[in-house]
Amino acid sequence: MKIGVYPGTFDPITNGHIDIIRRSLRIFDKVIVAVAPSPKKKPIFDIHERVEMIREAIRDISNVEIEIFEGLLAEYMKRKNAHAIIRGLRAVSDFEHEFMMALMNRKLDSETETVFLMPSEEYSYLTSSAIKEVASYGGVVKDLVPPIVARRLQDHFKKKQK
Ligand code: COA
Repeated sequence: MKIGVYPGTFDPITNGHIDIIRRSLRIFDKVIVAVAPSPKKKPIFDIHERVEMIREAIRDISNVEIEIFEGLLAEYMKRKNAHAIIRGLRAVSDFEHEFMMALMNRKLDSETETVFLMPSEEYSYLTSSAIKEVASYGGVVKDLVPPIVARRLQDHFKKKQK
């Protein structure tokens, strides 16, 4: 069974991430969405909220597991007996960062491979930060994120205004 691990912070999950999950299931038998706490990124949603939103957003997709992972990704890959890390490559601007991460992960474990998938062009400009920025000013993000995420963002920024 070919297992792929899709790691990220997912603060919050977007339609772009979901597009990558669907595409990766054409290659892997099982995909593990590995959610990192990433405290340095100062996420607005705690890790359990992020997992809950992912769970709701992908409930109609089979062969996907969601897990929280801490520590080194290369170690996690070994623990899971996974075959490859899955990353989305949206634009040239992603390349340097992704190149560094892929090589670092390979340095940590020479058997760690990274597979890059291109999201649909309609999502190629999406980032979680851009979504949060737009939502924080009351902008409409409903076409870019799953409905549960749109609701949670609205609640989050409403609460902050009070
Ligand atoms: N659609 C929409 N957005 C996407 C996307 C897609 N298909 N693919 C990536 N993104 C966005 C993310 O939402 C995120 O946006 P943001 O920065 O505005 O929040 C950005 O692109 C990339 O962030 P993310 O997916 O969270 O990955 P990351 O680059 O922060 O890396 C880990 C996160 C968890 C993979 C990485 O930090 C890690 O491996 N940590 C473990 C420690 C470790 O092993 N380190 C050694 C490796 S160098």
